[in-house]
Amino acid sequence: NDVDLAGFPHYMLKEIHEQPESLRNAMRGRLDDENATAVFGGLNMTPQQIRTVRRIILTGCGTSWHSALVGEYMIEELARIPVSVEYASELRYRNPPIENDTLVFGITQSGETADTLAAIRETKRKGHRTLAINNVVGSSIAQAADGGIYLHAGPEIGVASTKAYTSQCCVLAMLALYFGRMRHLSFESGQRIIEELRMLPNAVAEALRCDATVKEIAAKYHEASTFLYLGRQYNFPTALEGALKLKEISYIHAEGYPAAEMKHGPIALVDEHTPSVFIVPKGTTYDKVLANMEEVKARGGPIIAIASQDDPQVQKIADDVITIPDAPGLTQPIVSIVPLQLLSYHIALLRGCDVDKPRNLAKSVTVE
Ligand code: G6P
Repeated sequence: NDVDLAGFPHYMLKEIHEQPESLRNAMRGRLDDENATAVFGGLNMTPQQIRTVRRIILTGCGTSWHSALVGEYMIEELARIPVSVEYASELRYRNPPIENDTLVFGITQSGETADTLAAIRETKRKGHRTLAINNVVGSSIAQAADGGIYLHAGPEIGVASTKAYTSQCCVLAMLALYFGRMRHLSFESGQRIIEELRMLPNAVAEALRCDATVKEIAAKYHEASTFLYLGRQYNFPTALEGALKLKEISYIHAEGYPAAEMKHGPIALVDEHTPSVFIVPKGTTYDKVLANMEEVKARGGPIIAIASQDDPQVQKIADDVITIPDAPGLTQPIVSIVPLQLLSYHIALLRGCDVDKPRNLAKSVTVE
């Protein structure tokens, strides 16, 4: 490979540590303080066209599908535009009714995933406007779509996506800001969100300091055969993505669930050998997630918590705590995924797995 490891033992670890920088690159030149909004060069849409969008579809596969779920919360919250998230492999054959004035985004690191490309080509053929959120300049999707936004994350070599995921979430946050500001979002709210986005790279850098703690926790749990990952709202996709990272590179069975859904099934898996990873930073639904943690504890399940600093309540319930810096709503999932990326990395290493090239997986799936 012609990309340098820069002293890291694996590309995945290097890419995890590049995230403060890749996030800065995603935002460079795109935050407009004067108008308290975001700007994008390649959307190829007039302000009038943006204003008439009535519905948004976000589609992708794997990790990119998870960032779409984060984007759904962001866009609905800031822009109040209804969003649906579709697996590209389903969208391309499902033939759903798509209303006029729907904007379809294909989200893909590589820009070459066969299903995502096909979903974009099919919706475009039907006359919908299609846009790509993609990392690789000049990729097939960049050529197929009507316009798009590049991540500028630099090459991602590790098969399990890390920095592309956080950059996708960041681009979706800026997009939510932009669409919001074209509608009901006030100047002051726009300014506040810009400020929050500007703090993000440093928050991620701070979150990366949990590495030593995560390594100890990995040593404690790496022999488990099932993990549960639980979170709510913005951290429900974080739970899905954390579980996927573990499956991909350590071959441990893991399930991500919205924390409150736990009682409808996953709680039956809880026993003293099955760790539950709760993403429980301060914020909305914090109390509810604490209650779910109590339920797992009462059944003897070990608990690893991703929590805010100085949280005695979490400390009391959880067996192990990984702290992350406080990050406001929109930026929260971009910070809280960092310890989960590291957890999967360290567990995979302890199990002797090839983290950069996990068995049976490909960096981009260019066949159906
Ligand atoms: C493969 C990779 C994943 C990636 C997915 C979608 O499964 O192993 O890491 O999330 O494809 O790839 P894309 O390039 O479309 O984001």
